Amino acid sequence: MASGLFITFEGIDGSGKSTQARLLHERLSGAGTPAVLTREPGGSPGAEEIRALLLEGAPDRWSPHTEILLFTAARRDHMEKTIEPALNAGKTVICDRFADSTRVYQGVTRGDLRPSVDQLHSLMIGREPDLTFIIDIDPAIGLRRARARKGSEERFEDFGEDMQRRMRAGFLALASEFPDRCRVIDGDRAPGAIADDILAVTRAQPGLDT
Ligand code: ADP
Ligand code: TYD
Repeated sequence: MASGLFITFEGIDGSGKSTQARLLHERLSGAGTPAVLTREPGGSPGAEEIRALLLEGAPDRWSPHTEILLFTAARRDHMEKTIEPALNAGKTVICDRFADSTRVYQGVTRGDLRPSVDQLHSLMIGREPDLTFIIDIDPAIGLRRARARKGSEERFEDFGEDMQRRMRAGFLALASEFPDRCRVIDGDRAPGAIADDILAVTRAQPGLDT
């Protein structure tokens, strides 16, 4: 059986990734394409436990290097238990954040750790998505949206607008670095209009069976 498509959503906090991942999942499933919706950090029982370690508690709870190891450990479990079995069964996997988030967040916010991120990725993960949507938004709007839904997972959300600007630039730079798989989407529109664009790009992707 042919492998399913592996699609990821990336962007700064509050850009609308979770909303768009959900809408794409609804639309593909509604059209009869078997699809799995998942997220990082998390997406498997073990990785969800690591998520709680990463996102709750004091901002200085982990050193930058420990943090990269935890994100990578969670991703490895998620790949083994959720992503690869679904792709091997021919299902499309839609994932809210993946390795590009580590490249940008740990690369930009924790000193220049990108070389360590890349080494760990090739050692432990070794796979890129087929298609990555980078939802682009003005950080002031993203921050306002993210703060409106504040919960207990706030270790990473108080970066402030300046850091969010650097991360936005980091995601746009990744889109240039990986032009074959990345599509930048304007996130400052109504959710339905954004979802229409995303569905059209997905349908045009070779390998989708609808
Ligand atoms: P992310 O996963 O990127 O952090 P979410 O999809 O959770 O973003 O959206 C953050 C908040 O903004 C949510 O309350 C959501 O309902 C709202 N939202 C998402 N997309 C839009 C949009 N296009 N316009 C206005 N509000 C939006
Ligand atoms: P998420 O729940 O997707 O946050 P949001 O919905 O606000 O975008 O992710 C939680 C936080 O984890 C987010 O601030 C980004 C951060 N993160 C990293 O720093 N590195 C990573 O590899 C991943 C996957 C997430």
